[in-house]
Order: sequence, then C-alpha cells, then structure tokens
Amino acid sequence: MAKHPGKGDTGFSGTRWPTRNSVGENAKNVSLATLQALLVDGIDLYNCTRQAHWNLKGTNFIGLHEMLEGFYNALNEETDLLAERMVLLGGVANGVTQNLTTSRLPPYPADLLDSIGHVKELADRYAQVGKALRDGIDETDDAGDADTADLLTELSRAIDKKLWMLEAHLHGHGTQPNPA
Ligand SMILES: [Fe+2]
Repeated sequence: MAKHPGKGDTGFSGTRWPTRNSVGENAKNVSLATLQALLVDGIDLYNCTRQAHWNLKGTNFIGLHEMLEGFYNALNEETDLLAERMVLLGGVANGVTQNLTTSRLPPYPADLLDSIGHVKELADRYAQVGKALRDGIDETDDAGDADTADLLTELSRAIDKKLWMLEAHLHGHGTQPNPA
C-alpha cells in the first residue's frame, strides 16, 4: 500500500517511470506524494458527496440533491486532473478502492439522513480538502514544480466555491457572525 505522506514526509513511495518532462527529480518526488494524497482525499470526498446526494431528506431536499450532483461531477473531473498530473510526472496514480483507507478525511456517517446534517458533514470535509490543497500549493511550489502548484491553485478555488455554497445552506442553523 502506498505510504501516506504526513507533515515533513514528502517522499513518494509508488512506482516511478522515466520521462522527458524537465521538472526536477526532487520536485517530481514531492509533487507525486502531494498529488497522491490529494487524489485519495478527492475520491473519498466524491464518494461522501454521492452518499449525501442519495440519502439526504428534509429541508431543501431537491436543491441539495441537485447541487450535490453538480459537485460530484466536478470532483470527477478534478480528481482526473490530479491523477493525470501524476502520470505525466512519471508516477503511477493509485486510486483503487482499497487505497481509500489512506484518506485523511474522517469516515462519513453512513446512517445520516437529515439534509442539514449532511451539509455540515460535507462542509467540514470540503474545508479540509481546501486546506490540504493550499498546503499542497506551498509544498510543490517550494519544491520547484510551479505547474503542479498552479493546478492545485485552480482546484482550491473550485473547492472553495463549493464550500461557500454548502455554508450558505447553514445560515440560520446556528452560524453566528464573528465577534467584533
Ligand atoms: Fe443521482
């Protein structure tokens, strides 16, 4: 199983192939580890979003059901960009189901039905992935792979937008303005 990179652990343990791509070897190593971790998180987030899409009931059912379909279709494209970036850097993208045990997201509650409960659970996870993407921007930029940093910048904006749309549904459900 692929090693899961944590803070200060930036090596990629998966298979690597030679490529004419001129990104430096150390930068490739850092980017592959960062991309692999984000790929697994992204596939997990895709599955969490589908779980909510299928099972949520209650307030604003149809709006949330349809919005989340748009989210998981977008995540399908976004995780594809992560995986293809790995392969073009000479790596092997590991997105098989068994690998999802390395996801950094908490397990999604499989018995949850309440729509606002689903929005809260998803908002926590979209925020976590947004932070992981921003951490990845710094890691890959520092390592010298500006192109991966640019991809992660694009994807972080897309996740931030989805977080905004989730949090907008929580207005009036206990969210208070920041203290002055
Ligand atoms: Fe559906």
